[in-house]
Amino acid sequence: MSAPDILSPEFAADPYSAYRTMRDEHPLIWYEPMQSYVISRYADVEKAFKDPVFTSRNYDWQLEPVHGRTILQMEGREHSTHRNLVAPAFRGRELAEKFVPVIEQNSRELIDAFAADGKVDLVDRYATRFPINVIVDMLGLPKTDHEHFHRWYTSIMGFLSNLSGDEAVMADGIRTKGEFSDYMIPIIAARRENPGDDLLSTLCTAEIDGVRMTDHEIKAFCSLLLTAGGETTDKAIASLMSNLVAHPEQLEAVRADPSLIPAAFAETLRHSPPVHMIMRQPSEDVELSGGTVEAGTTVTCLIGAANRDPERYADPDSFDVHRSDLDQGRAYTAGANHTAFCLGRHFCVGAMLARTELETGIAQLLDAMRDIRFTDGTPPPEHGVFTRAPSELRLTFTPA
Ligand code: HEM
Repeated sequence: MSAPDILSPEFAADPYSAYRTMRDEHPLIWYEPMQSYVISRYADVEKAFKDPVFTSRNYDWQLEPVHGRTILQMEGREHSTHRNLVAPAFRGRELAEKFVPVIEQNSRELIDAFAADGKVDLVDRYATRFPINVIVDMLGLPKTDHEHFHRWYTSIMGFLSNLSGDEAVMADGIRTKGEFSDYMIPIIAARRENPGDDLLSTLCTAEIDGVRMTDHEIKAFCSLLLTAGGETTDKAIASLMSNLVAHPEQLEAVRADPSLIPAAFAETLRHSPPVHMIMRQPSEDVELSGGTVEAGTTVTCLIGAANRDPERYADPDSFDVHRSDLDQGRAYTAGANHTAFCLGRHFCVGAMLARTELETGIAQLLDAMRDIRFTDGTPPPEHGVFTRAPSELRLTFTPA
């Protein structure tokens, strides 16, 4: 069988069949429209994430136009210094003490707005709003600006997932970078003068070995947070709820024992990851299954394919919150045995924040909604090839 065409409608309708063909028959393809190699086996994707030969230098041209310079583009000492400046805010005590109340309140407000209705499009009313609202509140930015942030985030995501190079979408993304800068730079200046107890103040004042982030680095990091922490978590919520409603016995198991939520989230990240494609660039020629990748070429790593590699998981296409071959203890660490958060040095900074948001959000949703069914009787289709999840999730339920 010939190698699948990633930009075709057939691929978009069912990437998982194409991933199977790629893993089995074409583990390394050169895909001309994206000017990139594409890899699909778990072992190869793991190598591309962990081996320092594979750099994230390709992001200079992919991310710079919309975000500016972010930690995703950095490597080596520059990367570890910047990562150490920002990471503490996203884990441990800082996360638990400062931000759990923010997470609980944002989720509660959104659920209260539809809980009595008995029906909801959970993507529209909850999933696309909750993580962005949390980030805006964590940064200490005005709640009244939530709508601006939604527009900026939609525009940046359009730019980043614009695999076919639509010019209007590109222009909109670049315009957003300017608008976002105009909005953020004066706020950063004020926060440096007058720091508070919020994440933006932490970014403005944090210092390691005399290094502080510049105004533009802070602005770029905030812009990255909107997409890295917004769209991903939003898609995870939609896919997790859809997976649970499609498997009522697993839904009831999670309802009866909410301590299963992290396992259900980890299995969703494996089975239906929010991000399907991550790009890397080797600094020297490197061998992967299927041949040699030359230094300086782009390599697209297919997370959704790696996460269903039968070499790694039994019955990889089935969704099972009790799966024994996904290590729950490590699922939210750089040593995870799924690839949804990346692996190694660029492992998602926000993994514990995402887990906390999902734990809180799903528990509150299940408390508010009994007897949950798909309004149309069947699970909604997923959309997207760069990032992927149901774009609508119409549910009918009995208010608790
Ligand atoms: C990095 C996925 C939630 C912030 C990454 C990467 C992936 C990922 C795949 C690696 C990107 C690359 O190397 O090209 C996810 C998923 C999430 C999620 C699936 C939710 C289910 C979050 C949240 C935040 C966040 C909530 C923060 C608010 C970041 C940052 C990086 C990153 C700052 C860059 C880390 C670095 O380069 O060292 N994430 N993410 N993410 N993520 Fe997440």
